[in-house]
Amino acid sequence: MVELKDASFRYGGVLAFKGLSFKLEKGEKVVLLGVNGAGKSTLLKVLNGLLFLSEGVYLYKDREISKKTLKDKNFLKLFRKETALLFQNPDSMLFNPTVYDELAFNLRRLGFPDKEIKERVLYWAEKCSLLPFLEKPPFELSGGQRQKLALACLLPQEPELLLLDEPTAHLDPRSTGWLIDLLWELPCTIVTATHNLSLAMELGSRAIVLSEDHGLLYDGGVEDFLKSKELLFKAGFVHKHGRRGEHFHFF
Ligand SMILES: Nc1ncnc2c1ncn2[C@@H]1O[C@H](COP(=O)(O)OP(=O)(O)OP(=O)(O)O)[C@@H](O)[C@H]1O
Ligand SMILES: [Mg+2]
Repeated sequence: MVELKDASFRYGGVLAFKGLSFKLEKGEKVVLLGVNGAGKSTLLKVLNGLLFLSEGVYLYKDREISKKTLKDKNFLKLFRKETALLFQNPDSMLFNPTVYDELAFNLRRLGFPDKEIKERVLYWAEKCSLLPFLEKPPFELSGGQRQKLALACLLPQEPELLLLDEPTAHLDPRSTGWLIDLLWELPCTIVTATHNLSLAMELGSRAIVLSEDHGLLYDGGVEDFLKSKELLFKAGFVHKHGRRGEHFHFF
Protein backbone atom coordinates (compact mmCIF):
# COMPACT_ATOMS: atom_id res chain seq x y z
CA MET A 1 0.00 0.00 0.00
CA VAL A 2 2.85 2.34 0.93
CA GLU A 3 6.43 2.08 -0.20
CA LEU A 4 9.42 4.29 0.51
CA LYS A 5 12.58 3.77 -1.50
CA ASP A 6 15.79 5.31 -0.20
CA ALA A 7 13.83 8.28 1.08
CA SER A 8 15.46 11.35 2.61
CA PHE A 9 14.13 14.71 3.74
CA ARG A 10 15.99 17.91 4.55
CA TYR A 11 14.66 21.22 5.84
CA GLY A 12 17.16 23.39 3.93
CA GLY A 13 20.43 22.17 5.40
CA VAL A 14 18.83 20.28 8.34
CA LEU A 15 18.51 16.55 7.82
CA ALA A 16 15.24 15.09 9.17
CA PHE A 17 15.64 11.51 7.89
CA LYS A 18 17.75 9.70 5.32
CA GLY A 19 17.90 6.46 3.37
CA LEU A 20 14.55 5.05 4.54
CA SER A 21 13.18 2.07 2.64
CA PHE A 22 10.16 0.09 3.79
CA LYS A 23 6.74 -1.11 2.71
CA LEU A 24 3.48 -0.98 4.66
CA GLU A 25 0.80 -3.54 3.91
CA LYS A 26 -2.93 -2.82 4.09
CA GLY A 27 -4.25 -2.97 7.65
CA GLU A 28 -0.83 -3.07 9.35
CA LYS A 29 -0.47 -1.39 12.73
CA VAL A 30 3.01 0.10 12.93
CA VAL A 31 4.63 2.04 15.73
CA LEU A 32 7.19 4.63 14.69
CA LEU A 33 9.85 5.09 17.35
CA GLY A 34 12.83 7.39 17.77
CA VAL A 35 14.17 9.98 20.20
CA ASN A 36 13.29 13.68 20.03
CA GLY A 37 14.36 15.08 16.68
CA ALA A 38 14.89 11.66 15.07
CA GLY A 39 12.48 12.55 12.22
CA LYS A 40 9.15 10.90 13.17
CA SER A 41 6.86 13.90 12.64
CA THR A 42 8.57 14.79 9.39
CA LEU A 43 8.14 11.25 8.10
CA LEU A 44 4.42 11.33 8.93
CA LYS A 45 4.04 14.65 7.10
CA VAL A 46 5.75 13.16 4.07
CA LEU A 47 3.43 10.12 4.17
CA ASN A 48 0.49 12.56 4.31
CA GLY A 49 1.80 14.47 1.28
CA LEU A 50 2.33 17.71 3.19
CA LEU A 51 6.08 17.62 2.60
CA PHE A 52 7.86 16.07 -0.37
CA LEU A 53 10.99 13.96 -0.30
CA SER A 54 14.35 15.59 -0.97
CA GLU A 55 15.61 12.27 -2.37
CA GLY A 56 14.10 8.87 -3.06
CA VAL A 57 10.58 7.77 -3.95
CA TYR A 58 7.26 7.58 -2.09
CA LEU A 59 4.65 5.28 -3.63
CA TYR A 60 1.06 5.19 -2.35
CA LYS A 61 -0.90 2.35 -3.95
CA ASP A 62 1.83 2.20 -6.61
CA ARG A 63 1.45 5.88 -7.52
CA GLU A 64 4.28 8.25 -6.83
CA ILE A 65 3.50 11.05 -4.38
CA SER A 66 5.27 14.22 -5.41
CA LYS A 67 4.45 17.89 -5.91
CA LYS A 68 3.85 17.06 -9.56
CA THR A 69 1.55 14.04 -9.12
CA LEU A 70 -0.57 15.82 -6.50
CA LYS A 71 -1.30 18.57 -9.04
CA ASP A 72 -3.80 16.10 -10.54
CA LYS A 73 -6.94 17.37 -8.74
CA ASN A 74 -8.79 14.02 -8.81
CA PHE A 75 -5.83 12.15 -7.44
CA LEU A 76 -5.24 14.83 -4.80
CA LYS A 77 -8.86 14.56 -3.65
CA LEU A 78 -8.62 10.78 -3.41
CA PHE A 79 -5.29 10.96 -1.58
CA ARG A 80 -6.66 13.57 0.87
CA LYS A 81 -9.66 11.36 1.57
CA GLU A 82 -7.66 8.18 2.01
CA THR A 83 -4.80 9.53 4.16
CA ALA A 84 -5.17 11.45 7.40
CA LEU A 85 -2.65 12.86 9.87
CA LEU A 86 -3.17 13.66 13.53
CA PHE A 87 -0.68 16.43 14.28
CA GLN A 88 1.57 16.27 17.33
CA ASN A 89 -0.12 19.44 18.61
CA PRO A 90 -3.90 18.83 18.33
CA ASP A 91 -4.67 22.53 18.78
CA SER A 92 -3.07 23.26 15.42
CA MET A 93 -5.92 21.26 13.84
CA LEU A 94 -8.88 22.88 15.58
CA PHE A 95 -10.25 26.14 14.24
CA ASN A 96 -13.99 25.67 13.61
CA PRO A 97 -16.66 27.42 15.74
CA THR A 98 -18.17 24.19 17.14
CA VAL A 99 -17.19 20.59 17.76
CA TYR A 100 -19.83 19.54 15.19
CA ASP A 101 -18.25 21.77 12.55
CA GLU A 102 -14.81 20.36 13.34
CA LEU A 103 -16.09 16.83 12.84
CA ALA A 104 -17.89 17.78 9.63
CA PHE A 105 -15.06 19.89 8.18
CA ASN A 106 -13.17 17.25 6.18
CA LEU A 107 -16.36 15.68 4.82
CA ARG A 108 -17.63 19.09 3.68
CA ARG A 109 -14.27 19.80 2.03
CA LEU A 110 -14.43 16.43 0.30
CA GLY A 111 -17.92 17.22 -1.00
CA PHE A 112 -19.98 14.61 0.90
CA PRO A 113 -23.78 15.20 0.87
CA ASP A 114 -25.23 16.86 4.03
CA LYS A 115 -27.27 13.83 5.10
CA GLU A 116 -24.25 11.54 5.02
CA ILE A 117 -22.12 14.14 6.81
CA LYS A 118 -24.63 14.26 9.66
CA GLU A 119 -24.85 10.48 9.93
CA ARG A 120 -21.11 10.01 9.94
CA VAL A 121 -20.47 12.87 12.37
CA LEU A 122 -23.03 11.57 14.87
CA TYR A 123 -21.66 8.03 14.59
CA TRP A 124 -18.06 9.08 15.32
CA ALA A 125 -19.06 11.65 17.95
CA GLU A 126 -20.81 8.86 19.82
CA LYS A 127 -17.88 6.48 19.42
CA CYS A 128 -15.44 9.11 20.69
CA SER A 129 -17.68 10.26 23.61
CA LEU A 130 -18.05 13.72 22.09
CA LEU A 131 -21.86 13.86 21.77
CA PRO A 132 -22.33 16.17 24.80
CA PHE A 133 -19.94 18.73 23.29
CA LEU A 134 -21.26 19.01 19.73
CA GLU A 135 -22.46 22.62 20.06
CA LYS A 136 -19.53 23.81 22.15
CA PRO A 137 -16.52 25.67 20.81
CA PRO A 138 -13.47 23.35 20.81
CA PHE A 139 -11.47 25.72 23.04
CA GLU A 140 -13.88 24.98 25.89
CA LEU A 141 -12.79 21.33 25.94
CA SER A 142 -9.97 20.01 28.13
CA GLY A 143 -6.58 19.15 26.63
CA GLY A 144 -7.37 15.43 26.49
CA GLN A 145 -10.84 16.07 25.06
CA ARG A 146 -9.29 18.27 22.36
CA GLN A 147 -6.83 15.51 21.48
CA LYS A 148 -9.71 13.05 21.17
CA LEU A 149 -11.60 15.56 19.04
CA ALA A 150 -8.60 16.10 16.76
CA LEU A 151 -8.43 12.33 16.22
CA ALA A 152 -12.20 12.05 15.83
CA CYS A 153 -12.07 14.68 13.05
CA LEU A 154 -10.06 12.26 10.91
CA LEU A 155 -12.37 9.27 11.28
CA PRO A 156 -15.61 10.28 9.47
CA GLN A 157 -13.76 10.24 6.12
CA GLU A 158 -12.78 6.61 6.85
CA PRO A 159 -9.14 6.95 5.84
CA GLU A 160 -7.13 3.98 4.58
CA LEU A 161 -3.83 5.30 5.95
CA LEU A 162 -4.08 6.89 9.39
CA LEU A 163 -0.98 8.66 10.67
CA LEU A 164 -0.90 9.54 14.37
CA ASP A 165 1.74 11.75 15.93
CA GLU A 166 1.97 11.16 19.68
CA PRO A 167 -1.80 10.58 20.00
CA THR A 168 -1.67 9.69 23.70
CA ALA A 169 0.34 12.71 24.86
CA HIS A 170 -2.63 14.40 26.56
CA LEU A 171 -4.74 11.34 27.38
CA ASP A 172 -5.32 9.86 30.84
CA PRO A 173 -4.93 6.08 31.31
CA ARG A 174 -8.61 5.36 30.63
CA SER A 175 -8.66 7.37 27.41
CA THR A 176 -5.34 5.83 26.37
CA GLY A 177 -6.90 2.37 26.78
CA TRP A 178 -9.92 3.51 24.78
CA LEU A 179 -7.65 4.79 22.00
CA ILE A 180 -5.69 1.53 21.82
CA ASP A 181 -8.91 -0.49 21.53
CA LEU A 182 -10.18 1.86 18.82
CA LEU A 183 -6.97 1.63 16.78
CA TRP A 184 -7.14 -2.16 16.67
CA GLU A 185 -10.81 -2.01 15.69
CA LEU A 186 -10.13 0.21 12.67
CA PRO A 187 -9.47 -1.70 9.46
CA CYS A 188 -7.05 0.91 8.08
CA THR A 189 -3.25 0.95 8.03
CA ILE A 190 -2.04 2.92 11.04
CA VAL A 191 1.37 4.42 11.77
CA THR A 192 1.67 5.80 15.30
CA ALA A 193 4.70 7.89 16.25
CA THR A 194 5.67 7.82 19.89
CA HIS A 195 8.64 7.76 22.22
CA ASN A 196 6.54 6.14 24.89
CA LEU A 197 8.10 2.68 24.97
CA SER A 198 5.67 1.31 27.51
CA LEU A 199 2.83 1.85 25.03
CA ALA A 200 4.72 0.71 21.94
CA MET A 201 3.62 -2.91 22.17
CA GLU A 202 -0.02 -1.91 22.48
CA LEU A 203 0.06 0.52 19.57
CA GLY A 204 1.46 -1.82 16.93
CA SER A 205 2.85 -5.22 16.14
CA ARG A 206 5.66 -3.86 13.97
CA ALA A 207 8.17 -1.20 14.95
CA ILE A 208 10.00 1.12 12.60
CA VAL A 209 12.75 2.80 14.60
CA LEU A 210 14.63 5.89 13.49
CA SER A 211 18.16 6.30 14.80
CA GLU A 212 19.55 9.43 16.40
CA ASP A 213 21.40 10.12 13.16
CA HIS A 214 18.05 9.96 11.28
CA GLY A 215 18.46 6.61 9.50
CA LEU A 216 16.46 3.39 9.78
CA LEU A 217 17.75 1.56 12.84
CA TYR A 218 15.22 -1.25 13.01
CA ASP A 219 12.19 -2.61 11.20
CA GLY A 220 10.59 -5.69 12.74
CA GLY A 221 8.52 -7.01 15.64
CA VAL A 222 7.95 -4.51 18.47
CA GLU A 223 8.64 -7.10 21.14
CA ASP A 224 12.03 -8.09 19.72
CA PHE A 225 13.07 -4.46 19.62
CA LEU A 226 12.03 -3.84 23.21
CA LYS A 227 13.88 -6.96 24.37
CA SER A 228 17.17 -5.93 22.76
CA LYS A 229 19.27 -3.83 25.09
CA GLU A 230 21.68 -3.19 22.25
CA LEU A 231 18.97 -1.78 19.96
CA LEU A 232 17.43 0.29 22.75
CA PHE A 233 20.88 1.72 23.43
CA LYS A 234 21.52 2.45 19.75
CA ALA A 235 18.14 4.17 19.45
CA GLY A 236 19.05 6.45 22.34
CA PHE A 237 16.41 5.10 24.71
CA VAL A 238 18.91 4.22 27.44
CA HIS A 239 19.78 6.92 29.86
CA LYS A 240 22.66 6.83 32.31
CA HIS A 241 21.90 8.20 35.77
CA GLY A 242 24.78 9.33 37.94
CA ARG A 243 24.06 7.00 40.86
CA ARG A 244 21.85 4.34 39.44
CA GLY A 245 23.94 3.57 36.38
CA GLU A 246 22.38 2.46 33.12
CA HIS A 247 18.64 2.80 33.19
CA PHE A 248 15.89 2.13 30.66
CA HIS A 249 13.12 4.64 30.55
CA PHE A 250 9.82 2.88 30.00
CA PHE A 251 7.38 5.72 30.39
N1 LIG B 1 10.00 23.22 10.20
C1 LIG B 1 11.26 22.82 10.41
N2 LIG B 1 12.28 23.57 9.93
C2 LIG B 1 13.58 23.20 10.12
N3 LIG B 1 13.95 22.07 10.77
C3 LIG B 1 12.97 21.30 11.27
C4 LIG B 1 11.58 21.64 11.13
N4 LIG B 1 10.84 20.68 11.72
C5 LIG B 1 11.71 19.79 12.22
N5 LIG B 1 12.99 20.16 11.95
C6 LIG B 1 14.21 19.41 12.31
O1 LIG B 1 14.14 18.14 11.69
C7 LIG B 1 14.58 17.12 12.57
C8 LIG B 1 13.46 16.09 12.75
O2 LIG B 1 12.38 16.70 13.42
P1 LIG B 1 10.99 15.95 13.71
O3 LIG B 1 10.05 16.96 14.22
O4 LIG B 1 10.60 15.20 12.51
O5 LIG B 1 11.45 14.92 14.84
P2 LIG B 1 10.57 14.00 15.82
O6 LIG B 1 11.18 12.65 15.77
O7 LIG B 1 9.15 14.12 15.49
O8 LIG B 1 10.87 14.66 17.24
P3 LIG B 1 9.91 14.75 18.57
O9 LIG B 1 9.99 13.41 19.25
O10 LIG B 1 10.60 15.80 19.38
O11 LIG B 1 8.54 15.12 18.14
C9 LIG B 1 15.00 17.82 13.87
O12 LIG B 1 16.39 18.03 13.81
C10 LIG B 1 14.28 19.15 13.79
O13 LIG B 1 15.02 20.15 14.44
MG1 LIG C 1 7.54 14.79 16.52
